[in-house]
Amino acid sequence: MKIALLYFSGTGVTAKFASDIASGFLKTEHSVDLLRIKRKSTFDLTDYDLFGIGAPAYSYRAPRIVTRILRKLDFKGKPFFVFSTSGGVPGNTLWNLYMAVYRKAGLFLGSIEGFGTTNIKSWMPKLSDTKRKLGGLTNHDCEMAQQFHEIIMGRLNRWQKKPDKGEMKSIIPDANLGYYIWAGFFTWRFEMAFYAGIKFLDKEKCNSCKLCATRICPSGAITLKRNNMPRFNEFLCVGCSGCMNLCPKDAIWTFRSKNHQQYDLYKEYILKS
Ligand SMILES: Cc1cc2nc3c(=O)[nH]c(=O)nc-3n(C[C@H](O)[C@H](O)[C@H](O)COP(=O)(O)O)c2cc1C
Repeated sequence: MKIALLYFSGTGVTAKFASDIASGFLKTEHSVDLLRIKRKSTFDLTDYDLFGIGAPAYSYRAPRIVTRILRKLDFKGKPFFVFSTSGGVPGNTLWNLYMAVYRKAGLFLGSIEGFGTTNIKSWMPKLSDTKRKLGGLTNHDCEMAQQFHEIIMGRLNRWQKKPDKGEMKSIIPDANLGYYIWAGFFTWRFEMAFYAGIKFLDKEKCNSCKLCATRICPSGAITLKRNNMPRFNEFLCVGCSGCMNLCPKDAIWTFRSKNHQQYDLYKEYILKS
């Protein structure tokens, strides 16, 4: 079976979670492609038999940049599941992901959440060492993700033979009106301002490696100047804080992040994508 895990990730926590889910499927001789969603991404999904769709919670919902792209993709009526990571209050994130694709996809097979704490650079030092290593996810979250393929493949095999309407309905993620209302207040502008803030560049530290613009930023908010140093477009920024968390030279800072240690474990997940 060919599986696509489409995920959005700013600083790598959801990327790590997706990679754990993938490792479970890979043990059972399926092939898995990890596809990171960015602004204006398009994917050809024709060859895939199963989809996993994941995103972090942004202001109690799935980031709008993600749901907008998902709505445009064609999932060819194939089965799917959803996953998310959050700082502990995911709100309607799983529901938003489910709603964005269920019309074009087929059988819904379930959902999984990784709860941790936020990966924002200025908040990381408040975590214990073990939690910081996993970007806020717990060991339990990662183990659950690695075993998630058993639930998914079990349901797929069972329901393809004999659909169980009651069970199928019971696994659809819940929607909460209260979070809908809250999420309505938190626009991208608020997210950018509160979670990341205006970004500055330490020109002494920047080595013009271009990673922030070409590999890290998922929202197209960083372009390059002639000298290959980044220029920030705060209007496109979604506040993921990936650039300041993952800059190899720690050259990007905001008033919130200054003087805090760098969070770098997930460089490998984002830079691989
Ligand atoms: C802009 C923004 C908004 C967030 N909103 C929420 C939220 O409403 N609830 C929550 O539990 N965590 C929230 N978080 C925390 C993220 O969901 C959490 O850190 C997630 O694991 C980040 O995943 P990533 O590294 O893949 O981007 C928010 C983080 C950011 C950057």
